Amino acid sequence: ATLKVDASPQSARKIPETLFGIFFEEINHAGAGGIWAELVSNRGFEAGGPHTPSNIDPWSIIGDDSSVFVATDRTSCFSRNNVALRMEVLCDDCPTAGVGIYNPGFWGMNIEDGKAYNLVMYVKSPETTDLTVSLTSSDGLQNLASTTITVSGTSNWTKLEQKLVAKGTNRTSRLQITTNKKGVVWFDQVSLMPEDTYKGHGFRTELISMLLDLKPRFLRFPGGCFVEGDWLRNAFRWRESIGPWEERPGHFGDVWHYWTDDGLGYYEFLQLAEDLGAAPIWVFNNGVSHNDEVDTAAIAPFVKDVLDSLEFARGSADSTWGSVRAAMGHPEPFPVKYVAIGNEDCGKKFYRGNYIKFYNAIRQAYPDIQMISNCDGSSKPLDHPADLYDFHVYTDSKTLFNMKSTFDRTSRSGPKAFVSEYAVWRSDAGRGSLLASLAEAAFLTGLEKNSDIVQMASYAPLFVNDNDRTWNPDAIVFNSWQHYGTPSYWMQTLFRESSGAMLHPITISSSYSGSLAASAITWQDSENSFLRVKVVNFGSDAVSLTISTTGLQASVNALGSTTTVLTSWNVMDENSFSNPNKVAPVKSELSNAAEQMQVTLAPHSFSTFD
Ligand code: AHR
Repeated sequence: ATLKVDASPQSARKIPETLFGIFFEEINHAGAGGIWAELVSNRGFEAGGPHTPSNIDPWSIIGDDSSVFVATDRTSCFSRNNVALRMEVLCDDCPTAGVGIYNPGFWGMNIEDGKAYNLVMYVKSPETTDLTVSLTSSDGLQNLASTTITVSGTSNWTKLEQKLVAKGTNRTSRLQITTNKKGVVWFDQVSLMPEDTYKGHGFRTELISMLLDLKPRFLRFPGGCFVEGDWLRNAFRWRESIGPWEERPGHFGDVWHYWTDDGLGYYEFLQLAEDLGAAPIWVFNNGVSHNDEVDTAAIAPFVKDVLDSLEFARGSADSTWGSVRAAMGHPEPFPVKYVAIGNEDCGKKFYRGNYIKFYNAIRQAYPDIQMISNCDGSSKPLDHPADLYDFHVYTDSKTLFNMKSTFDRTSRSGPKAFVSEYAVWRSDAGRGSLLASLAEAAFLTGLEKNSDIVQMASYAPLFVNDNDRTWNPDAIVFNSWQHYGTPSYWMQTLFRESSGAMLHPITISSSYSGSLAASAITWQDSENSFLRVKVVNFGSDAVSLTISTTGLQASVNALGSTTTVLTSWNVMDENSFSNPNKVAPVKSELSNAAEQMQVTLAPHSFSTFD
């Protein structure tokens, strides 16, 4: 087989700087119990709903009916989240270890030896009492950190802050608050954050480093269905997710079926985009959920709400909403240049009517913001104005492999495509197989080739907490303390130099051409330019390939220095906590830099040649 690369500058075309990015959705506990480092689950006791008494899960009680009575009421000092926990200690002679409550976090807290954890909680105790706060093993027997705080008797709420330094490691720990003094104590907004988070911004460092390794050019957030909600009353509301964390009401995400305290809110997403060096893409609800819709005649307040969200991000520090952002610690505006008007709602009754209201209002207030429609413009022109349109694909590996040429046929005029969700799914995807990643790699070579019309692309979903595998497969798998990339994650790392690179035309001639996909780029680091050829061998035979380059400029390094291969013995192989790098790129040196290069493509492999 032969792969010809025309590396001459005249036939090259620049790939958009924005081509490959990431899509973060609050799904699979990706945020709450995921990248957001908060260790307490249901920190404000709101998850059980506003009716009291309510379910306090996952909080539990230490002690029995005769020693302690614990129930929620609505006496909190926070008006937007007024549920608090009232604990009445009944025993005169309580057990030495005390009675109280504990929180196991999200399937156990990862507490590590020598590390510091900042506890904040709001307490009201009419009588002076002692509270012991401890980090323990899940059965309470191993004490990792403990201190006793004296709370002065008062009818007011008091904010307590305590640093706990662990003297041992336990991956499934819990936070305990106990006392052995009779009386009544109220609790609210109990937070435990590791002191060490990424840039001090509240994110789990090791998970963020997985994102940094992808060099994402954009961050689409905070989700797809998560933004819509099954019902509008449960959709993500940016306004409820900003300001002091204690005052956020939190909400139940009814599509993915879990509560989030919204510690990871609109501000934190904008901060994350900044920390990743990625352009923020704010997906907002346009009055449409899975089951109910706002009539276009009544959409005006929702439009105003979105304009306020943009002022929050972009307004000066003395504007109404920009000042709220400044008060949160970011006086400089966040550069929101893209917004998506809804998610997967094109077919809904009021989508188009609502869309145009949002579109006109945003265009007028922020002429530079690019707007993304949910309607697919790849096969026929849109019937409404848009800068980009969403294109989502979840399918089997063979179909996605063949979809590498989908955009070959798309009209070159009109809005650009944003492939904002793609993945091999269901039948042969497993929990992230090599096979899936090969089909996806082939699809991405097609997007590179069509990047005159495809401006952005992101895999979905990005994260899964192994304890809540609602959606499989995903790019990054984690639990309280471990993580690994699936083959689809590693595949994406081999495209990270493509955004902003020069794309070269290629031709493949081979009897295997039906199972090969390839692309060629010239990319640059801070000093040098490199030619890179990527080839997917989707078939089960090894392929002997001659790569022949013409037109290469002297300033560009020819192929022949390194090769990186993603493959495995079995095409359905996956990674796991016990074998995280079973399917991961393996780099080796080459020393045959040449315009004609002979290589062998392993069966079922994705190779890059530099
Ligand atoms: O990525 C998972 C879901 O798939 C997204 O929420 C939605 O946009 C799509 O249907």
